[in-house]
Amino acid sequence: MNKFTLLALILCFIGIAFACDDFNPNTSTIGQCTGSQKVGWVPTDNAPVLTPADLDPTELAVHEERMNYILQMGTALKRKFIASIYHQNGTLMCTGVNMGKPNIISHGEIVAINNCTAMHGITVFTNYTLYTTGEPCAMCASALLWADFKTIVWGTYNADLLCKICMSNIPMDSAYIFGRYYGLRSTAPRVIGGVLRSQADAFFGSYCSNPNSIYYIKPRCACTNTTSPLKIEQTQYSSWFEGGVTKTQFGGVITNTAQYTVTNPTFTSTGVKPTSIWGMVNEANTDNWSLQWYPVIQAGQTYSFGYIITGTEPITFQPTA
Ligand SMILES: *[C@@H]1O[C@H](CO)[C@@H](O)[C@H](O)[C@H]1NC(C)=O
Ligand SMILES: *[C@@H]1O[C@H](CO)[C@@H](O)[C@H](O)[C@H]1NC(C)=O
Ligand SMILES: *[C@@H]1O[C@H](CO)[C@@H](O)[C@H](O)[C@H]1NC(C)=O
Ligand SMILES: *[C@@H]1O[C@H](CO)[C@@H](O)[C@H](O)[C@H]1NC(C)=O
Ligand SMILES: *[C@@H]1O[C@H](CO)[C@@H](O)[C@H](O)[C@H]1NC(C)=O
Ligand SMILES: *[C@@H]1O[C@H](CO)[C@@H](O)[C@H](O)[C@H]1NC(C)=O
Repeated sequence: MNKFTLLALILCFIGIAFACDDFNPNTSTIGQCTGSQKVGWVPTDNAPVLTPADLDPTELAVHEERMNYILQMGTALKRKFIASIYHQNGTLMCTGVNMGKPNIISHGEIVAINNCTAMHGITVFTNYTLYTTGEPCAMCASALLWADFKTIVWGTYNADLLCKICMSNIPMDSAYIFGRYYGLRSTAPRVIGGVLRSQADAFFGSYCSNPNSIYYIKPRCACTNTTSPLKIEQTQYSSWFEGGVTKTQFGGVITNTAQYTVTNPTFTSTGVKPTSIWGMVNEANTDNWSLQWYPVIQAGQTYSFGYIITGTEPITFQPTA
């Protein structure tokens, strides 16, 4: 063995020694979980989605004009998914149309992003707003988050595309993705849904009776009942004079008329504030109420509360949907 062979062997041994220094889950603190715990995600809320009613009229007018532009484009081109990208200075930078080319993931948003990069060399979209006729699918919402768009605006909602219009789509609200910005960004993008919603819905039309269309999917959607199943009945128990005013005691019974359990219901009240109340708690002196005791009402079960007020008229409690 000459000295070069020896050196090679030593280097090889050092290499092997380092190569063997593998990740050891027993001693690693990655994920900070121990024992029988497993690594998971911190529960995260969806991003809030603004609607036209939340915007001031000047801003809304700008979004409507731009939405109208891509709806017109789509009508002229006989294509459904059109996107446009504006700089924050108001300049239209580029558009994108889903033509199914060059491949099936060439959605309007993706085409527009690639178009802006090709036309203007834009690589990060921090100062840009994206418009799209239909709410971004899960793939595009992820792409928009990566691209760092600060504002995203759509006409028709995903839930309507899939559930009412019978168009194939990933069944997910984009707000689910936009709310999960943590690994990429410090804040969620500003998200605005339903701009020119009825025009956009009409533009998409319906594929529900057209199962041969390439877009068609038989919807498998859940309907969420927005009417509270809680019914409230109140009884006046007694009335008396006290310190020169009339005081009245009422008892209330909340009945769950649904076939399912209602958990943590909330209520809003109108009328004078009670001088004392039991079974309901007021949130920070507002007209908002929640149940004081075990806040779960099983199907068909009831929950009782009571209060004393000045006067003789009962407070009206409305369940919040
Ligand atoms: C981790 O701990 C388990 C159980 O004590 C043991 O069987 C395993 O060999 C350890 N793994 C390593 C890489 O040390
Ligand atoms: C707005 O910004 C874009 C991108 O920098 C630029 O190309 C465009 O000329 C600007 N438009 C105006 C009106 O300043
Ligand atoms: C790129 O955007 C421009 C508008 O700025 C548009 O005329 C052109 O058709 C778009 N190209 C593609 C491939 O969509
Ligand atoms: C966005 O615009 C601001 C000024 O409004 C500028 O300071 C910043 O560098 C821009 N960001 C990018 C990524 O272009
Ligand atoms: C919605 O809930 C209300 C109250 O429980 C009920 O009367 C109504 O029938 C429900 N509607 C549907 C469509 O299930
Ligand atoms: C009262 O409840 C309603 C509906 O849940 C909510 O929108 C409102 O912000 C609440 N008001 C206060 C003052 O907490």
